[in-house]
Amino acid sequence: MPETFYVTTPIYYVNDVPHIGHAYTTIAADVLARFHRLTGQDVFFLTGLDEHGQKVQQAAARAGIDPQTHCDRLTPQFKNLWEKLNISNDGFIRTTDPPHKSVVQRCLQGLLDKDLIYRAEYTGWYCTYDERFWTEKDVEAGLCPDCKRPVEKLSESNYFFRMSQFQDRLKAHIQGHPNFIKPESRRNEVLGFLQKPLEDLSISRPKSRLSWGIELPFDRDYVTYVWFDALVNYISGIEFLPAQPAFDRYWPASLHLVGKDILTTHAVYWSTMLMAMNLPLPQTIFAHGWWTVNGEKMSKSRGNVVDPYAMVDKFHGSDGFRFFLLREVPFGQDGDFSEEGFVNRYNAELANDLGNLLNRSLAMLERYTDSLVPTPQTTTDQEIDRQLKNTAEALPALVNKHLTNLEFNKALETILALVQLSNQYIDKTAPWTLAKKPEGTARLHTVLFNMSQIPGFLCGTLYPFLPVKAEEMKNQIGLQMSFSTFRFFENLKWGMISPGTQIRKGDPLFPRIDIKDYAKETMDGREESKVQLRGVGKEVEKTQASIPPEPASGIISSTLAQDSQITIEDFQKIQFRVGKVLAAERVPKSKKLLKLQVDLGQDQRQIVAGIGKKFDPESLIGQLIVVVANLKPTKLMGVESQGMVLAAGDKEVQGLVTLSEEVAVGEKVK
Ligand code: MSP
Repeated sequence: MPETFYVTTPIYYVNDVPHIGHAYTTIAADVLARFHRLTGQDVFFLTGLDEHGQKVQQAAARAGIDPQTHCDRLTPQFKNLWEKLNISNDGFIRTTDPPHKSVVQRCLQGLLDKDLIYRAEYTGWYCTYDERFWTEKDVEAGLCPDCKRPVEKLSESNYFFRMSQFQDRLKAHIQGHPNFIKPESRRNEVLGFLQKPLEDLSISRPKSRLSWGIELPFDRDYVTYVWFDALVNYISGIEFLPAQPAFDRYWPASLHLVGKDILTTHAVYWSTMLMAMNLPLPQTIFAHGWWTVNGEKMSKSRGNVVDPYAMVDKFHGSDGFRFFLLREVPFGQDGDFSEEGFVNRYNAELANDLGNLLNRSLAMLERYTDSLVPTPQTTTDQEIDRQLKNTAEALPALVNKHLTNLEFNKALETILALVQLSNQYIDKTAPWTLAKKPEGTARLHTVLFNMSQIPGFLCGTLYPFLPVKAEEMKNQIGLQMSFSTFRFFENLKWGMISPGTQIRKGDPLFPRIDIKDYAKETMDGREESKVQLRGVGKEVEKTQASIPPEPASGIISSTLAQDSQITIEDFQKIQFRVGKVLAAERVPKSKKLLKLQVDLGQDQRQIVAGIGKKFDPESLIGQLIVVVANLKPTKLMGVESQGMVLAAGDKEVQGLVTLSEEVAVGEKVK
């Protein structure tokens, strides 16, 4: 029997449509599931929905429908997204599935029978608005720490799980199993949390307060606390979703992937629940970081929630999005998402580096050897050949190592390093020169054979990340295999693309995202965005909030879709000069605007700039900056502004344009 790999995502609340955070964990789990299947393991990958509890009940109430109808309506939003993102989950659980409810009730009854659940009166501070209890230390001046509304003393009878009994065992388990909670910093966090006495956990809610949940098997006036219900999905899902109950086959789970905000519920609640049920703990709980969007917390009220459906539609399918999320930040750390960052990385690494490598390799095979992989004389004639071969052959083990450690970004980095090396190989061996002289043919065949091995290694290692493109890559290079039977270690070998293989060059795998089209599209969608070529550096913006209409950030954005070409004469009309900030203060009642006194050599100017969110006025004094000196004066919030300072940034200012050398004030900038 092959080794098993059981991976889970959190089950998502169906209180709203899915966003980038949900997509992130699910994509990460999918990459691992696909990878472990490639290594021949027996994989079960579970995801699903958390349908009970207050959040869902409230969302249904807002929609004016009953909670079950609400859940049924929202479920396809998640299921369809997973299809669109090519998620290969083996099970999809909904906590309203009747078999799940039975398992939860069985667990509760079992714990009650063992006297690990008891009923008690609880008195605490209750916030009616948030519908939750707070302890004495949470409440300050009689106010709810969350919504700041007054709290009241309330007594309520509830059922409690004797979680406190398991504190020492849990601590010992974490200490004795370094891989149980990852990353390391999160493990320390949980150990820190366990320094304080662990309280018992209320696992019920009176129906009078919350009716949407699984009824307690031993008291019909109560429903189960949503977290107790939800966590049990990890065992109920392998009991009733596979064709045959597979608890013994897959438990303990290999890996629970969770976001950092729900680590305690997993590491503490779930672990102690399992201990109480005499079940082994999962091998690893990994807490990943959170995405912000353009530097800001993502939230509905900010209107910056990233819709994964839109990303897939806008940017040539799901693979680019899957790639970006796992490439951009080390798993475990927080990251920032921006469409600009996405497009830059996509164009640089997928369209340019990888796309071009495939394109040129296949084009040369087409041109020089009639679309057939040639027979090499020897494959490692020269040092450069040996280097390419060794690097390719080392790749599977490295990718395996990184993915075992959940270092997705490093796995991708290693794969991209082979792409770069291969591009250099082509540049240095220059097949086009070899093809010109008959005596170059033998060497040309060796080079082309070597080049043709690389797409094999690339599609094999990239498949977990880019399942669609890897399939296309495989077909173009003529590799006859199916990823369902392909074996990562056995089949990824030098020579896997044998001489005589017929290649089929097709459309470019990663069409460049054209900046102009993209900008046009976003403008049509009334979004504001700015993308520029990688390596060109941040676009410089004219940062004086003086040109109407003023966007929220106070930065004026020129969009790329506008015809941005100007003549030298146009440019010469603008006088850029070096200025020194002599004084700076905030414009009263404005968070953004700073009033600067700037020395321009022959004169001194007052300039009002929308940079106050980024800079404290004090930090600017003495700085050399670049100023548009011949701008018509204007008034901003009643304060006269006689010029404009240059700063970088899109919706928010990121930095000021300064000078690397001490330059005389008033100096022209051109
Ligand atoms: N229903 C619970 C989980 C129960 S698991 C037994 C829940 N659901 S959730 O829908 O609110 O959140 C699901 C996951 O989304 C969490 O892991 C959370 O960390 C993640 N994210 C929510 N916003 C996120 C970002 N902005 N970035 C990355 N992940 C984020 O909690």
